[in-house]
Amino acid sequence: MSLTFLGIESSCDDTAAAVVREDGTILASVVAGQTDLHADFGGVVPEIAARAHAEKLDLCVEQALSEAGVALRDLDGIAVTAGPGLIGGVLAGVMLAKGLAVGTGLPLVGVNHLAGHALTPRLTDQVAYPYLMLLVSGGHCQFLSVSGPEDFTRLGGTIDDAPGEAFDKVAKLLGIPQPGGPMVEEAAQRGNPKRFAFPRPLLDRPGCDMSFSGLKTAILRQRDELVAAQGGLHEQDRDDICAGFQAAVADVLAEKTRRALAIAPAPTLAVAGGVAANQTLRAALQAVAAEAGAAFVAPPLRLCTDNAAMIAWAGIEAYNAGQRDGLDLMARPRWPL
Ligand code: KG4
Ligand code: ZN
Repeated sequence: MSLTFLGIESSCDDTAAAVVREDGTILASVVAGQTDLHADFGGVVPEIAARAHAEKLDLCVEQALSEAGVALRDLDGIAVTAGPGLIGGVLAGVMLAKGLAVGTGLPLVGVNHLAGHALTPRLTDQVAYPYLMLLVSGGHCQFLSVSGPEDFTRLGGTIDDAPGEAFDKVAKLLGIPQPGGPMVEEAAQRGNPKRFAFPRPLLDRPGCDMSFSGLKTAILRQRDELVAAQGGLHEQDRDDICAGFQAAVADVLAEKTRRALAIAPAPTLAVAGGVAANQTLRAALQAVAAEAGAAFVAPPLRLCTDNAAMIAWAGIEAYNAGQRDGLDLMARPRWPL
């Protein structure tokens, strides 16, 4: 019989609950964002995030169960993000999951948020092990060779900022409203990617490590140069900077992906994380996959960004691999895969 799991996610600024079946059917996936709450602060404020999770989590669970048409007693398990992330939010999710597990007697499975992202292609596209995963979000940037639900090999990653963070910071530098990623992508569509020659950091170094903070500094310098020369930024300048920046990020990620596929050849290249929404990046990665004779899988956007369906799914996979957690399940701010 196919298992049905409740998933709970609260590690950053999305409060989410989902009900997912072992056959990959997502019966419900509720995501309540907090962008408005943090808008005035230029970033996620951990204390505000934790309070909002504590207020909304049970309502999200109730809504997910109701949309799925499933009662708690019909479930086979409860999966919860136990880290890494902002500890107050993770604690709120873990405490709720423990309460539900005790109240119902259902098995409890603590899930690594990154494993949730990394296993998403199996939920959406039934991708077989092994595969290469590029996880690119606001907080993460790494290549993972995925060989099983608990078998991840990290091939490399950013040594400073994550690409999403760079998109957000570039938006801020150019006076473009948040969320930076989608807005910078939109501006880039109107821009000329060749007008400014921004650096491609670490391409001269072997391996899969990446760096994005120098790119941000180059953009700051270019902005200041233009402001000094012409007294401000024209709309076209902004668009051209965005296009040049996006091209540089895509070039770096594409070349490093090429190397990752050479180090750990795999029949499938998959992406996840919010930055995987970027169309220029998707096209560049698709081309790299084609060159290497690999299939390319990019989950739908709502499953690329933070959600609880991926947590429920990772919970099902871990449960099938024998994982069971008790009331000693810890919320972990840091938890490398
Ligand atoms: O995975 P996610 O929802 O949250 C975590 O960081 O865990 O990713 C959000 C990040 C943000 O930095 C956002 O600017 C970036 O993904 N992002 C994009 C695009 N859409 C979202 N970056 C580039 N292009 C996009 N279209
Ligand atoms: Zn995430």
